[in-house]
Amino acid sequence: MGDIALRADHVSKVFGHSRVLDDVSFELRRGEVLCLAGENGCGKSTLIKILNGVHAPEAGAVFSFGDDTAIGHITPREARARGIHVIWQDLALFAHLSVAENIVFDDYVANPMRPLSYRAARQQAREVIERLGVQLDPDTRVEELSIARRQLVAIARVLRAGARIIFMDEPTASLTRNEVRTLLDLTRALSAQGISIVFVSHRLAEVLAVCQRVTVLRNGKLVGTYPTEGMTQARLSQLMTGQELNLVPRQTAPSGEPVLELRGLSRRGEFEDVSLTLNRGEILGLTGLLGAGRTELAHVVFGMTQPTAGEMRMHGKRLTLRSNRDAIRHGIAYVSEDRLNLGLVQSQSINMNTAVTVLGELEKPRGFLAPWRVRALTAEWIRRLGTKVSDAELAVSSLSGGNQQRVVIAKWLATKPEVLILDCPTVGVDIGAKAGIFEIIRQLADDGMAIILISDEAGEIWMNADRVIVLREGRVSQELTPADTTEESLEEIINA
Ligand SMILES: Nc1ncnc2c1ncn2[C@@H]1O[C@H](COP(=O)(O)OP(=O)(O)OP(=O)(O)O)[C@@H](O)[C@H]1O
Ligand SMILES: [Mg+2]
Repeated sequence: MGDIALRADHVSKVFGHSRVLDDVSFELRRGEVLCLAGENGCGKSTLIKILNGVHAPEAGAVFSFGDDTAIGHITPREARARGIHVIWQDLALFAHLSVAENIVFDDYVANPMRPLSYRAARQQAREVIERLGVQLDPDTRVEELSIARRQLVAIARVLRAGARIIFMDEPTASLTRNEVRTLLDLTRALSAQGISIVFVSHRLAEVLAVCQRVTVLRNGKLVGTYPTEGMTQARLSQLMTGQELNLVPRQTAPSGEPVLELRGLSRRGEFEDVSLTLNRGEILGLTGLLGAGRTELAHVVFGMTQPTAGEMRMHGKRLTLRSNRDAIRHGIAYVSEDRLNLGLVQSQSINMNTAVTVLGELEKPRGFLAPWRVRALTAEWIRRLGTKVSDAELAVSSLSGGNQQRVVIAKWLATKPEVLILDCPTVGVDIGAKAGIFEIIRQLADDGMAIILISDEAGEIWMNADRVIVLREGRVSQELTPADTTEESLEEIINA
């Protein structure tokens, strides 16, 4: 058992009436990167929480750690004592404290009466940062760092706390491509130091690039654990979904009259001189690396910020938006890329979160809100988007990450917008559901909606967009038609 860092046997978990994990077993070897893969809601995060003592499993579960005797339930403290740590998606850092203070924070918790001097903290932080082989200034306040660099701080913190097993739950969801590359390199370096890593991601290329083995779950059950060598994305997605995915590029239909026009639109420091026309019934792909100005442009079109030059027109008439409320009134909807703050009220029900954008409509004609109308609306969207919900009266926080994402999409589709902006709508969504979401998007376009699809996944854009606009450093660098190019060359253009 010497080379096994952690073994979990017969793990089951029930929430209310639903069994979300059913007799799952797997083992993690010392120094390996193991991926947990499976569709949204299959139980990955729940399994991680059980192994870290956040949730208790049902009776019968057995855990063993190296030569340590098997036990049935671990507390968070026991998990820590065994060197098990998680990098949570929100990173759980203290924004107003320095990098060094965050890194030594666990020490402070353990010995509140004898805090380290700042000098000692800085020295110890330097040592772990060096061990990580990254550039981080211990004196910078965390709030001044990018998400990617905050993540490094979180990793440094668990290393310094003596992590031997690190769980990373969708660590790449909000990173740019170069940042992803850095994180994957770092993950490999940690495993070379003998640390075992459990990695969760819906981007299958990443999974195959960084993991030695992959454990696949489907509907809370173990499908199996497989070596990634020789594994293809198609095979992995088939193991996850139990089906073969048959993806076909969109058959471009002739598009209708112009709905939205941007002319020389600029916002100082963000993007410059962007002109484009969005037609009825069209999916316009807007791509370029994160930071190219895509999201900033979307914010202006949705009225969240104001342009510093240029103009927008809708149906030929000049459009001035003072707020996103103005935008919604003009039939513009925006599904934000922000995965951590999806614009959901976590403590409210799935029903309320879905209906919130159309409450005014649902109250008509008599001005009171009939709960059945809310339920009917939500049920319809749950069905159309294939959201995994056991009871729509439950708080939205009870949904898995990818299913929360679907609630956000539903909430905006419910407004029946004329122009829909989707900002990386499928980050964190599993591969089967991605296909489902795009099917809906294509259908909406066929029914006349004008859609702007923002994404840096060349495949997604190539398969679904009628036209593509590439932004680079805030300017339109190219306009092209997927039919005239290949997915590979689009990929090159995005990365150029
Ligand atoms: N606290 C909770 N109360 C009720 N149900 C829950 C709770 N936490 C999770 N669930 C349910 O358990 C199932 C598994 O959720 P989990 O978050 O583990 O999925 P996941 O595999 O991490 O999905 P994703 O890829 O979307 O993040 C889901 O159906 C979810 O709705
Ligand atoms: Mg999850």
